[in-house]
Amino acid sequence: VADRYEPQLVKPVEETLPPTLEVLLRDEDAIVRHTKSFAILHEVSQRIQREHDPKEMLANVLDLILEVTRATRGYVALLEDGQLRIEVTRTRGPRAQTQAQAISQTVAEHVMERRSCVICTDAAADARFQDAESIFLSDIRSLMAVPILVSDRARGMIEVESSHTQARFTEHDLDLLSVIASTVGVSLDNLEMAQRLVRSEQMAAIGRLATGIAHEVKNHLSPFMLADMIAKRYPGDRQIQDASEMMIEAQQHIFDLVNEIRNFASGTGSSYTMEPTDLAELVERVSRFIKCDATVRTANVVLELEERPMVIADAKGIRQVLINLIKNAADALPERGGRILIHVKTRDRQAILDVTDNGRGIPAEAQARVFDAFFTTKGTKGLGLGLDISKKIVEAHRGQLGFRSTEGKGTTFRMALPLAD
Ligand SMILES: Nc1ncnc2c1ncn2[C@@H]1O[C@H](COP(=O)(O)OP(=O)(O)OP(=O)(O)O)[C@@H](O)[C@H]1O
Ligand SMILES: [Mg+2]
Repeated sequence: VADRYEPQLVKPVEETLPPTLEVLLRDEDAIVRHTKSFAILHEVSQRIQREHDPKEMLANVLDLILEVTRATRGYVALLEDGQLRIEVTRTRGPRAQTQAQAISQTVAEHVMERRSCVICTDAAADARFQDAESIFLSDIRSLMAVPILVSDRARGMIEVESSHTQARFTEHDLDLLSVIASTVGVSLDNLEMAQRLVRSEQMAAIGRLATGIAHEVKNHLSPFMLADMIAKRYPGDRQIQDASEMMIEAQQHIFDLVNEIRNFASGTGSSYTMEPTDLAELVERVSRFIKCDATVRTANVVLELEERPMVIADAKGIRQVLINLIKNAADALPERGGRILIHVKTRDRQAILDVTDNGRGIPAEAQARVFDAFFTTKGTKGLGLGLDISKKIVEAHRGQLGFRSTEGKGTTFRMALPLAD
């Protein structure tokens, strides 16, 4: 694979800045070159302004980059949770390859860690990239890559590749790409800020809505107190005692729920009362109560209380987590043969609670998003807040909430809480 050793270029981002007006006025060649760049940058900013979706915006800009640098293909990768992931890939020309692209670790290191712009010609032969498997495999003739910087932080990178030996990238191409990348960085930031704004608007709206509902709900809940009266009237009737207990519990739960949503939306967080709590007993109470729920009712709910660990917890918080997990499980179940298994045990100084269902499972592409606020696959039937709230509650207990799921087979959500000493 390795033929000739070609020169290459590594340039710190700072050195790719466009020349100052003063320099330009002294150098006529530079004026000609930069007029072209100016036209290109103008087009970049047009494309950026036209798009409100970050991914579309990146794709449009990348198309333009491929066109003006005569590259065969390219990609934009963004840093997410410490991982560089390819957001968009584009190809150009008749020989456009559809082959999946891999990020070269070597290039990424130059670009992301040293914040340099690189051109590499005949990469396979370039000593610096010798061990980069990804370059060998995809037979790249030359590539250039630049960081996307946002206030001095590398948020990602743009890389373009050319498979013809003739069409080599020049230093001027590199400078231009670097400037485009910085424009892209700023607009990415803006788009994300706009999205955050929309989100906080949504939160505020939910807060207002919840406050309104809370007020109404409280008025209409008072008849529930009759349950207590009836229970006192028939002290010997087991069924009435149970029903009344459930009604009062339901009433309390509605109050808690509305308060939780209000706290969540106002960003104040919840106030927890941490007390030694018997997790198994909590599970027993919740499962008795939730069996009245329309969707849970048709399921076969089985408790396996292997141990009865004591945890320091806010009972109403954990109860809410349990209800969310059990309701999610019930929602995923098939019409018939649905089963929910709730298992409690202790492992490594932690109380472990598993809620397992034999439902439809969570598709791979949804798995990363289930804990996101407003992520739901239930249309208008779900707000997509259940797991987001649950995770916050569990983390406030210094516990963990996670899951394992196989599509078509079922899902297990696991809550781990530190044991009370
Ligand atoms: N046990 C499960 N089996 C399959 N999918 C699940 C399960 N639990 C959660 N999910 C998926 O995760 C999504 C988010 O769950 P979450 O509880 O946060 O919101 P929701 O149930 O849709 O709405 P809400 O709980 O606010 O009423 C669900 O819409 C569903 O697609
Ligand atoms: Mg839910």
